[in-house]
Amino acid sequence: MQTGSLAAALEREHHEIDAGIAAFTAAPGDRQPLTRAVGALRRHIYLEEEFLFPLLREAEPGLAAPVFVMLREHAQIWGTLEALERAADAGTGATLGKRLTVQLLHHNLKEEKILYPRADEALPPAAADRLRVFLSSGELPEGWVCLLKARPVSQNPGRAGR
Ligand SMILES: [Fe+2]
Ligand SMILES: [Fe+2]
Repeated sequence: MQTGSLAAALEREHHEIDAGIAAFTAAPGDRQPLTRAVGALRRHIYLEEEFLFPLLREAEPGLAAPVFVMLREHAQIWGTLEALERAADAGTGATLGKRLTVQLLHHNLKEEKILYPRADEALPPAAADRLRVFLSSGELPEGWVCLLKARPVSQNPGRAGR
């Protein structure tokens, strides 16, 4: 079984994704770094929404509010990702790449300051192990969409905290 800080591993993913987007905005003609970064970011959001955030809320109910802010930001980021992929297909996309960079800067900082430290402190060891396994080899299910994109709050307020 792997060991080590989950917070550090999740932060490392942030940096790797940031680097891919930076490579694309510096040279938008090369699509490969963007494709890799977008895939990694979608998988990262999946891991957070389906595994990390529910575990954190269960361990510390007081984290429900910051988690919900992160879900809302994921929906905004997801929208930017979709627009960015379309723009990159059309040979543009540098502007949206910069927008994504700014969105991630603010979002990632909050996760790294508020939520990730709790992942190391509050999660049961077995749950932390499952997250480490997913980080090393997990895959995004085909067609998965972030929770508030799939089910906007305005259409389903009762499930907003999920
Ligand atoms: Fe996130
Ligand atoms: Fe994150």
